[in-house]
Amino acid sequence: MLTTVFVGRSLDEIRFWSRIMKEHSLFLKLGFRCEDTQLIGEANQFYAVFEEIERRSHTFTAEADPEQIRRFNVEVHNAASHIWAFKRKVLGLILSCQLPGANNFPLLVDHVSREAFYFRNRLEQLNSGQLEALPDAIIDENVFFLRIMADHAKFIGHLLDPSERQLGEQARNFSHDFDQLLFQAKDLESMRPQSQTVPLLDQFLDQNRISVKSLRDFKKTARDLIEACRIKSIIHPLLADHVFREAERFLFIIDMLDASLTSKQPG
Ligand SMILES: [Fe+2]
Ligand SMILES: [Fe+2]
Repeated sequence: MLTTVFVGRSLDEIRFWSRIMKEHSLFLKLGFRCEDTQLIGEANQFYAVFEEIERRSHTFTAEADPEQIRRFNVEVHNAASHIWAFKRKVLGLILSCQLPGANNFPLLVDHVSREAFYFRNRLEQLNSGQLEALPDAIIDENVFFLRIMADHAKFIGHLLDPSERQLGEQARNFSHDFDQLLFQAKDLESMRPQSQTVPLLDQFLDQNRISVKSLRDFKKTARDLIEACRIKSIIHPLLADHVFREAERFLFIIDMLDASLTSKQPG
């Protein structure tokens, strides 16, 4: 990989995901009970670690020394592995009923651990220079992000006040649509390599883009309404913005994959 591409991609991933990891630490902390002081302390530490990583990522430029970025990636990879382990530990505590009354859904904790794993894996790929072949990347990225989007719709549906009937209904519809898209992506995954033709992948990306845009718009509306105190929910305003940014990220990735696909098309 070209060194400038390596530096740019690494910094882009770290800037986006370190902010996300920082916010996960806050959401986990807010979900613990007052007496869970040890867990709250751990969450605070992770918040500080990722806040510092985020700050440092903005001190580098695209002309940074690739060797320095490679070392930074290793360091961040290490932090991502630790927060992943912390999230899995918390999931274990919830599932074994050792945190009765805590306010984070098990699926949310599993979800944020998947995002940490994705981040860690991406840094590993960047440092080893072994990015997936384009057709594989297209299917795998979509399988990952479609599930993330389906989860978000479910979280929104469950955290809205039950009296917000219309919004609740819309969230459930998105959940259903994204579950369907995920199954479709899984079908394409199991049909590979034969399914990896340009027209099929192209159509797959186009279809996903349409649905992600409409979910992104729904999240934006929800975020604005929550910020303006115009709907009833237990959704933290930062969580509403967080899931909106993740949808934007997915759209950015779809466009990037689509552009590489188009550039590879004959003629
Ligand atoms: Fe997240
Ligand atoms: Fe998420």
